[in-house]
Amino acid sequence: MEVMEALLQRQSVKSYLPTPVEPEKLAQVLEAGRLAPSAFNRQYRRFIVVDDPAVKHLLREKAGAQPMIEEAPVVLVLCATEEPDFVMPCGAYMMLQACALGLGTCWLGAFDAQAVKAVLKIPPQVRVVTMMPLGYHDGTQPRKPRKPLDEIVGHNCY
Ligand SMILES: Cc1cc2nc3c(=O)[nH]c(=O)nc-3n(C[C@H](O)[C@H](O)[C@H](O)COP(=O)(O)O)c2cc1C
Repeated sequence: MEVMEALLQRQSVKSYLPTPVEPEKLAQVLEAGRLAPSAFNRQYRRFIVVDDPAVKHLLREKAGAQPMIEEAPVVLVLCATEEPDFVMPCGAYMMLQACALGLGTCWLGAFDAQAVKAVLKIPPQVRVVTMMPLGYHDGTQPRKPRKPLDEIVGHNCY
């Protein structure tokens, strides 16, 4: 799949089928995250793969009870291990690779980070950047619109 094709197809999937994610597809999504750039190539990142229903249940409780966390067969918890103020593009890479494989994801930012860290035994200096459900879309959601380019692009000044 072309990059632009994946960009056009990707959407935040909030409703998942119970179909499991094939291990080779999961591996490709993780590999996409591994290949993402990082400041000074320090690769201060750790990806936690959560597929245990009991752990997903606990994570859902720490994220406003968002159902997709339990519905999706896998939740990827992306962590910045040091210098957490640096931007982490790995999540975007993983979302696009997932899309190219026919899988859905959603970037979740609304959760109690301290509580999530306690559930997953994440060390104090590490920041949880996102929790990302991964699985097959049940096909119920329409795509969301974007502003036109001329509303968001400036040339040589703001
Ligand atoms: C930083 C960030 C945080 C987000 N947090 C949540 C969230 O906690 N819960 C949720 O349902 N969607 C969350 N989203 C998904 C957005 O709602 C979604 O990207 C936006 O509505 C556009 O929809 P689309 O991704 O389908 O194009 C988040 C997205 C981003 C980029």
